[in-house]
Amino acid sequence: MGQSHPSLKIGQHSIRYPIVQGAMAVRVSGAKLAGAVAKAGGAGVISSLGIGLNSPYFDLHARRGSLFLANQLALIDELRQARSISPDGIIGVNVLLATRDHATLIQTAAAYGANLIITAAGLPLKLPEYTVDHPQVALVPMVCGLDAVRTICQTWQQNYQRLPDAFIVENSQAVGGHFGTTCETFDSCIETMLPQIQQYLDQIGAKIPLIAAGGIWDRDDVDRMLAIGASGVQVGTRFITTEECDADRRYKAFHLQAKPEDVVIVPSPVGKPARALRNPFAEQAIAASPDLEQRCIANCLESCLCRDSRQNYCILQALSNAAQGDVDRGLVFSGANVGRINRIMSVAEVMAELTYLQAVTAH
Ligand SMILES: Cc1cc2nc3c(=O)[nH]c(=O)nc-3n(C[C@H](O)[C@H](O)[C@H](O)COP(=O)(O)O)c2cc1C
Repeated sequence: MGQSHPSLKIGQHSIRYPIVQGAMAVRVSGAKLAGAVAKAGGAGVISSLGIGLNSPYFDLHARRGSLFLANQLALIDELRQARSISPDGIIGVNVLLATRDHATLIQTAAAYGANLIITAAGLPLKLPEYTVDHPQVALVPMVCGLDAVRTICQTWQQNYQRLPDAFIVENSQAVGGHFGTTCETFDSCIETMLPQIQQYLDQIGAKIPLIAAGGIWDRDDVDRMLAIGASGVQVGTRFITTEECDADRRYKAFHLQAKPEDVVIVPSPVGKPARALRNPFAEQAIAASPDLEQRCIANCLESCLCRDSRQNYCILQALSNAAQGDVDRGLVFSGANVGRINRIMSVAEVMAELTYLQAVTAH
C-alpha cells in the first residue's frame, strides 16, 4: 500500500481523504452516492438540480406550475437519507446559481445539515448572505480562472468580511457536463491556473484550499494534482460506474462501454458547451435537428435558450431521461476521461484506488 494522503480541511470540516465527489445531475449523485462517498472518507455531494423532478412531490405541485417546492422537499429527503448512510461523514450540496430557486436550495441545504455548499454556473457574490445563520457550513465556489477567484474574494471581503472556505478549480479540458462556468477563457490548463490562483491567494494572505476538478481517474491523477498545489480533487465521472450511484443501471452500462473517442461537446440551453457521450440525442443536439423536443418543463433557469428562444432542448428533461435509463433520448454527461474500467465497482473500491498506490483487485 502507498502512503496515505493527508486529510482535507474545508472550514470547520475535516475530510479523511482529499476526495470530493462531483455533483451529478439529475439524480446521478443523490443520497446513495453522496452517503457512500462520505462513509468511505471522502466528501459526498448531492446535486440539487431538478432533484424534485422524479420525487413524490412533483406531480402534486407541478399542477400549480412549480418544481421549486418539490426540489426543496426532495432535497431535505435526500439530505436525511445521506446522513443516515453516513452519520458522521462530510456531505455537501451543489447548487447551480443559474437556477431560479438557487437561494432557497442553498438556505435549505444549510438548514438541513449540509456541511458544504458548493456553487457552480455563476459567481456566488451573495452566498454568505444566504447562510448567515449557519456559520458551520463551509462555502465552496467552483471557478475556472483567476478572475472569478479575485472577484469573489474582493466582494466577500468588502461586503461580508470573510473569504470562501475552499475553491474548486475546474479543468475545462476534461470536466464532465458544462464547462467554462464562470471564466474568462476555456482553454487555460489546470497546471497554469492552480499556481496563478495560489500566488494571488498568497498575495492577499489567504489560506484557502484549492480542489482540482476534471479528468481524475486514479491515484496517479490525484498525486499529480497534489504535486502542483491542489489540496484535494473533485471526481465526477469515475463515480458513475459504482453500485451506489443513483442513476439507472442502463446509464451506468452506457458509461462502462464508452471510450474516450465517444466524448463529444454539445451545445446546451444554458448557453455553455457541455461534455457528454455520443448518442442519438447528442447527435441531434450538435446538428440542431428540428426533431429535438423544445418543451420547457419547469421554467427552472434564470436564462434558458430553450424557454426563451426555442433553441436546443430542455436540459432538465434531457438529463433526467438519461439518468432514468433512456440513454438514446437523454443527455449523458461525461468527463473526457472515461472507458478505463469494464465492471461496476463499489464506492469503497473506487475510494481505495484513488487513495492508495496499489489498486484494489477485483473480488
Ligand atoms: C453526469 C454529470 C452531471 C454533472 N452535473 C453537475 C451539476 O449538477 N453541478 C455541477 O456543478 N457539476 C456537475 N457536473 C460536473 C461534476 O460535478 C465534476 O465537476 C466533473 O464531472 C469533474 O470531472 P470528471 O467527471 O472528469 O471527474 C456533472 C458531471 C457529470 C459527468
